[in-house]
Amino acid sequence: MDFKHEIAKIVAQAANMDIDEVVANIETPPDPNLGDFSFPCFKLAKAMKKAPQVIAAELKSDIATPSFVQSVEQTGPYLNFFVKRDIYIPEVLSKISSQGEDFGRATIGNGGCIVIDYSHPNMAKPFHVGHLRSTVIGHALYNIFNFLGYRSFSINYLGDWGTQFGKVIAAYENWGNEAEVHEGGIRELNRLYVKFHEEVEVNKELDDEARAWHKKMEQGDEYAMKLWQWFKDISMEEYAKIYELFGIEFDSYQGESYYNDKMQPVVEELKQSGVMKEDQGAWIVDLEEYKMPPCIVLRSDGGTLYATRDITSVLHRKEEYNFVQALYVTSHEQTLHFAQVFKVVELMGYDWAADQLLHVPFGYMNLPEGKMSTRKGKVLLMEDLLEQTFEKIGEIIEQKNPNIESKEKVAKQVGIGAIIFNDLYNSRIKDVEFSWERMLSFEGETGPYVQYTHARCSSVLAKAQTDFADADLSLLTTDEEFALAKILNSFPEKAAEAAQKYEPYIISRFVMQAAQAFNKFYHENPILKVDGDLQKARLYLVHCTKTVIATALGLLGISSPQEM
Ligand code: ARG
Repeated sequence: MDFKHEIAKIVAQAANMDIDEVVANIETPPDPNLGDFSFPCFKLAKAMKKAPQVIAAELKSDIATPSFVQSVEQTGPYLNFFVKRDIYIPEVLSKISSQGEDFGRATIGNGGCIVIDYSHPNMAKPFHVGHLRSTVIGHALYNIFNFLGYRSFSINYLGDWGTQFGKVIAAYENWGNEAEVHEGGIRELNRLYVKFHEEVEVNKELDDEARAWHKKMEQGDEYAMKLWQWFKDISMEEYAKIYELFGIEFDSYQGESYYNDKMQPVVEELKQSGVMKEDQGAWIVDLEEYKMPPCIVLRSDGGTLYATRDITSVLHRKEEYNFVQALYVTSHEQTLHFAQVFKVVELMGYDWAADQLLHVPFGYMNLPEGKMSTRKGKVLLMEDLLEQTFEKIGEIIEQKNPNIESKEKVAKQVGIGAIIFNDLYNSRIKDVEFSWERMLSFEGETGPYVQYTHARCSSVLAKAQTDFADADLSLLTTDEEFALAKILNSFPEKAAEAAQKYEPYIISRFVMQAAQAFNKFYHENPILKVDGDLQKARLYLVHCTKTVIATALGLLGISSPQEM
């Protein structure tokens, strides 16, 4: 039984409203004294030409109280419903238990393909914590959409072409050598890249050198391409390590270079359709009407640009994957870029562009010293970040629980969990302030706290060693038990909301609430110390909590260790 829906039915009938509209309006009051479900009457006021509190009072007297409802009360403009705990809790928990890890799963997506462009680091530059955000957000969205019945398709649009390669090659030719690159890998490439930017300050000719190398690449020069492939391989190896730690695989690695030979026909199409015009030798799409600067498609030297590739990527992906939606997960710095690209595609006559293309922007990840920049070398390398995280978590675990098996594996799971949770705890667009202390705490609103709660559930269940499948769930009646059941029951709704808003933090907040409610329950309601039937019922609740927490963490890309 879906309680919200049942209540909506009754209200819809009494108020002569559409049931879906009522469902959309029903709230869950944060204060349980105001009921378990609440229907605000503000919206009806205008149509009915009555004060909302009058409507609420009238509805109250019109409504026949259904059997699962304890009481209906009017509080000001709200109609509040109190459900019977001994019906509600058993209903909710048996549903969770029977659906198991599918609890919350839905078919809303109807199998439609959602292409998600995320992570997309720029090769020969290191994968720094700035890239992390795209990876973590994109991966969570990938999981969430799959969970809701879409077919997610991930594309890692590697920055594997462009002028930065010219710079790295120039730097390599000037100050690098084969042995050192072999030895140092991406760190050495980064050193060369940073050195280039230092040296070019005093020696402008280096820029010409870099441009010349880039040009050679464009012409397919054998030596330049050999270096390019080598640097790309080194970068890929590095990224692969990171993706493995995060448990991420991509469905495609079609990077920027993939589009090298695919832009020409699109450029032709743009010319022929008249969307693009010549402007001082360059080719641009005028977007003044849409209050945007022109989108430059071809430079005056005929060179293509970031936008040229992305216009091509959109059209190519539509053709290849026939998506119902294509998402591009990047920092908000690229908002204008995507607005221009999407508008150009729309102007080309592809009217699906307006609905189906979406930029999913996010804020910065701020290190304590401020914004990071690869060029100035002020970057926290992923490798260092991960290493330090694992080390610190390892120390905490050593203190808390020195006897657990596979300590190293757990430290990794918890470290990764901490990093992801820290990133996904707020609305995407907010900047993330990076702080070791906050991120790694087992007590605050952190990944480790939630994972620890899951481990606590596991340990209670393991200690009990009782079969609770036939528990009498109507014995669960305390405020904490009820509050926890209510929160668990909201998971399907939260998952749908996260997808609808492209906001993984809805899931993070949910799972945090669930963990907090569980711990409250755990502290106030003894489990192993009580006997027989009540113990079984409580174990059943623990089991349901564990299931839902694991599913929710899974959507975020976080694993749920059994002990830590
Ligand atoms: N590599 C780019 C960067 O780091 C992001 C690529 C985003 N995806 C795209 N199709 N443009 O800024």
